[in-house]
Amino acid sequence: MKAFRILFFVLTLFISFAAYGGSRKDFENYCLSCHGESAPPIYPADRLKEQWKEFFEEDFKKLHRGKKVKIPPQILRRIEEYVETYAADSDQPEGATF
Ligand code: HEC
Repeated sequence: MKAFRILFFVLTLFISFAAYGGSRKDFENYCLSCHGESAPPIYPADRLKEQWKEFFEEDFKKLHRGKKVKIPPQILRRIEEYVETYAADSDQPEGATF
């Protein structure tokens, strides 16, 4: 049973690490497929944390209506977490450097 407990511990660690700060990978896969290509580039540091919150509450659907943006809600939440973690007023703003 000990091996099972260790496996469980490692899994938990892995899952919490993967969730930390949201997911840049999802941001790249889902948002940058257009932004930086057919749409203007975007970066987490484009907005303050509060502004991103507002953006996802109000503008995201409106702006992307008819643009074939299909992102599952739980992934969109991870992306929101990511851009808010690295927003302009965060400890580690992420702008046009990556
Ligand atoms: C299918 C292509 C596509 C995808 C995928 C997409 N966008 Fe957009 N987005 C656009 C286009 C085109 C506009 C410009 C809309 C306009 O100005 O009328 C836009 C506008 C925006 C704007 C406003 C412009 C700005 O610079 O402030 C933001 C912010 C934005 N998108 C964020 C995102 C985020 C975050 C994601 C991923 C969760 C995403 N978009 C996914 C095409 C896309």
